[in-house]
Amino acid sequence: MRKNTIGFTLAGLTVVLSLLGSAQAELLGGGGVPTAPIAAPIQVPAAPPVPAPAPAVQWQTLSGAAPLVIGHRGSSGTRPEHTLEAYREAIRGGADFIEPDLVVTKDGVLVARHEPVIAIVDPSGKVLEATADVHNRSEFRDRLTVKQVDGHTVRGYFVEDFTLAELKTLRALERLPQQRSTQYDGLFEIPTLSEVIALVREEEARTGRQIGIYPETKHPTYMQAVAGVNTSQLLIDTLVREEFTDPQRVFIQSFETANLRDLNTRIMPAAGVDLPLIQLISGPDEAPYDWTAAGDTRTYAALGSSEGLRDIATYADGVGPYKRWVIDDHCQTTDFVTRAHAAGLPLHPWTFRNEASYLLSCYGGDPKAEMRQAIAAGVDGLFTDFPATGREVVDALSR
Ligand code: G3P
Ligand code: CA
Repeated sequence: MRKNTIGFTLAGLTVVLSLLGSAQAELLGGGGVPTAPIAAPIQVPAAPPVPAPAPAVQWQTLSGAAPLVIGHRGSSGTRPEHTLEAYREAIRGGADFIEPDLVVTKDGVLVARHEPVIAIVDPSGKVLEATADVHNRSEFRDRLTVKQVDGHTVRGYFVEDFTLAELKTLRALERLPQQRSTQYDGLFEIPTLSEVIALVREEEARTGRQIGIYPETKHPTYMQAVAGVNTSQLLIDTLVREEFTDPQRVFIQSFETANLRDLNTRIMPAAGVDLPLIQLISGPDEAPYDWTAAGDTRTYAALGSSEGLRDIATYADGVGPYKRWVIDDHCQTTDFVTRAHAAGLPLHPWTFRNEASYLLSCYGGDPKAEMRQAIAAGVDGLFTDFPATGREVVDALSR
């Protein structure tokens, strides 16, 4: 050990002196004239090759790397979804990526909410679902309205009818109060995409880990129609402005198709960025709304076919399927991973949740068993409301 150290030091000195000799020759105008070495090189025996450590586990992912843990709406199982605190908790739990769903305010700012509607209220005044306390604010009562969202009638309060300043006066609520803790209700704001990126940078500096974001532009066809905003363009503009365009740290996802094609062929090239695009694939009976709006009667079954997957590979870089595409209702692993990988597409299925009500009976109430089966099937990442659980599973398999 000691002998090697000395030998390398001497060899380094020899190289330095030899280079100096060449530089002197250049300065003296003697290019091409060999100069005598100041010291004869010392021969150092080559170190024996060190074999690369064998990986602890043979991942079945497309790249061979460990599957990604994606904090779905943050750590939405333990904090109100799409709040900075939910995202921070996801990162602390070990998420590789956090997932902001994005909608647009009246004054054109992308904010994180799962849907444009932030409180659904029936005609009797009963609140059916809410992610913010807007229905309790008398000053906003005139914003209660009825809209068509992707062909569905929705009565409630919509983000695009509020300025960012107005939204900032609201406070987030737990979306599933029957199942999840409401102890954080009323505490947290609705964040902008820029604030999410600032949080990521803060957590990266604190932890030394690389954290990515996985934005989804919600209902692009609807947003263009009701708010007059191309949210794909706005997303890229925001990422460029925030200088957050590292393709290792961003995936852009959508349930629609035309916006992904537009990002691929026009919006991203014009902005000089190239970020991986993920085509979301919902259940086979549903359909991308841009297809429906254009009179195309095909469903996600077409996108999930082998031909559909090969077509997706012409404009996107991966797929985000509903998890039943990967593991069916009978707990059987399907051929979907094999077919997606054959098309060159990594896949990140959704959504893995810890509550027994979301688990098939074969798992006996153990959410880790479901995650392990998906990982054994070869998925490249998991969207989960409980990223700390996802991290535990991946780390345990890594050992
Ligand atoms: O984006 C993939 C996953 O989030 C499923 O969609 O937004 O309805 O929860 P979402
Ligand atoms: Ca989403």
